[in-house]
Amino acid sequence: MNLQIKSFDEYKRVYEYSVNEPEKFWAEVASSFTWKKRWNSVLEWNFKEPNIKWFQGATLNITENCLDRHLENNADTPAIIWEPNDPEEHHRVLSYRQLHDKVCQFANVLKNNGAKKGDRICIYLPMVPELAIAVLACARIGAVHSVVFGGFSAQSIADRINDAACSLVITADGGFRGNKNIPLKDIIDDALVQCQSVDKVIVLTRSRTPISMIKGRDVWWEDEIKKVETQGNPDCPAEEMDAEDMLFVLYTSGSTGKPKGVVHTCGGYMVYAGYTFANVFQYQPGEVYFCTADIGWITGHSYIVYGPLSQGATNVMFEGIPTYPDAGRFWDIVEKHKVNILYTAPTAIRSLMSFGDEPLKGKDLSSIKKLGSVGEPINEEAWHWYDEKIGAKNAPIVDTWWQTENGGIMISPIAGVTPTKPGYATLPLPGIQPVLVDENGKEIEGNGVSGNLCIKFPWPGIIRTTYGDHERCRQTYFSTYENMYFTGDGCLRDEDGYYRITGRVDDVLNVSGHRIGTAEVENAINMHSDVVESAVVGYPHEIKGQGVYAYVILGTSSHDKELTRKNILQTVTRIIGAIAKPDKIQFVTGLPKTRSGKIMRRILRKIAEGDTANLGDTSTLLDPAVVEEIKEGAL
Ligand code: WT7
Repeated sequence: MNLQIKSFDEYKRVYEYSVNEPEKFWAEVASSFTWKKRWNSVLEWNFKEPNIKWFQGATLNITENCLDRHLENNADTPAIIWEPNDPEEHHRVLSYRQLHDKVCQFANVLKNNGAKKGDRICIYLPMVPELAIAVLACARIGAVHSVVFGGFSAQSIADRINDAACSLVITADGGFRGNKNIPLKDIIDDALVQCQSVDKVIVLTRSRTPISMIKGRDVWWEDEIKKVETQGNPDCPAEEMDAEDMLFVLYTSGSTGKPKGVVHTCGGYMVYAGYTFANVFQYQPGEVYFCTADIGWITGHSYIVYGPLSQGATNVMFEGIPTYPDAGRFWDIVEKHKVNILYTAPTAIRSLMSFGDEPLKGKDLSSIKKLGSVGEPINEEAWHWYDEKIGAKNAPIVDTWWQTENGGIMISPIAGVTPTKPGYATLPLPGIQPVLVDENGKEIEGNGVSGNLCIKFPWPGIIRTTYGDHERCRQTYFSTYENMYFTGDGCLRDEDGYYRITGRVDDVLNVSGHRIGTAEVENAINMHSDVVESAVVGYPHEIKGQGVYAYVILGTSSHDKELTRKNILQTVTRIIGAIAKPDKIQFVTGLPKTRSGKIMRRILRKIAEGDTANLGDTSTLLDPAVVEEIKEGAL
């Protein structure tokens, strides 16, 4: 079966078929992958528990699909073109053959260090090829990877390691991002003080920052590779995995204080990431594809590692940031590697747009054929800039809506096939059945309507559980509306049946495309000894999409407010990481609360948005006067 849909009419046909005959449809898609053993049943499910099983009885190893199966005809095709943070440093190219060999080698390193099938391994690495190699090596031996983004603090890492009881950590001495040198190993050392389960740390050399190595616990990546070389076992047979065996856990924020470990399994996730990659981007052999995400997020898992590699694509992997050494860096990379498909986030587009046309001068972007956007709603101004300045009005933009819990793209145009509309994720991909529901859980039918976005039928990439706490998975996603997966997003469906995501309807913020729970930030702020109470909401931010606005009540011990403000920022950075730092902190003497003690966030959100004329009903407040004070002090 050719996975790619080639016309809008075909899309409509395939979509109908996928809804009427989901099992047949997905069985056909799955047949284009390499399995060790075929499935007995395509799908068994209920959303009540939930209990969702795809391709039961089948066995596979996802790395055979991402590596081995390309060796026969495409061994020399570049799998990864790595572009370093510093443009003066040489880029690296790894062919499928080379990537395969390096993955096997490192898989043997993992085995030599005691790792085995089912073990959880934490990966805290910069965006270097070894990150992709480490991820794939885990999958090769059936170990479960838990990648933690390099911007998270020691405390966040410790929480994640402990939640999944990881036995091994893979990190580097340090990592480069822009003009920063992030002391990754030092941060891991701090984290591990709190972690009993870890007995081995493998350290890659990247920044040559001096670090301490703990005897018996810490080993160098390079030394371990040498051992494997002298042992003379370059190959590593791929572990045979059940389709529903865990592939990875990835932590994401929700409306409660504690991030949850989203669990994806081997078979369904592979099929979904691969199918959506092939279709949405209409990837053609020979094309160069550049996804600017970090592998520490789901976009990097699905659309740098597993999706593209399963389809034999050529990936550009970039270590740095869009504005280093200057705001022309993405365009230099596009020109240098003749990028055909660029997949980035609205926050990056808005940030680069703010530099004007100067950074684009003299840059040859003529290789660009298709553009993608992900992570947050894209505003029309950014959409048009992307379309005109980067795509020369000649490259379809795919605005891809999906979530960590979905495994892959859910609602999105198919490049060159689906007519696009600025700001719209457009239509569901085959197999995806979105519904809009009102507060009572009643489905809102017809077009020209809006409501809460749910999905009423499973797809292969759907979350299976939250690590170590299945009840939490049920509660969060499957209990709000009966027999539906609830996304947490608000959405409208226009007269043409096109979907436009309007943003989260829960207490989750989207800051620069990163998901941040308000409760998590509040907990961090409250750790500061001067803080009595705090409330965090989002507000519209020109570049970041949303900014973090914190209302803070101080105790009597605080005298120097400026100093306290700095200390609070430091506390948040220490507890979560710099990505969660409030953009604004307003000190208040009270918070608007109902008589039952619940903070009325609706009011705080309005004030943060600067929309104070229209606060709605405040009569149920315990102390309405506090609202006046907060309004006056608003930033
Ligand atoms: C939330 C998921 C999965 C990609 C990276 C983010 C928002 C994501 C879009 C889009 C409007 C979007 C939603 C969603 N979101 N893509 N194209 N248009 N909003 O993954 O961290 O799991 O966040 O990002 O609010 O619920 P994530």
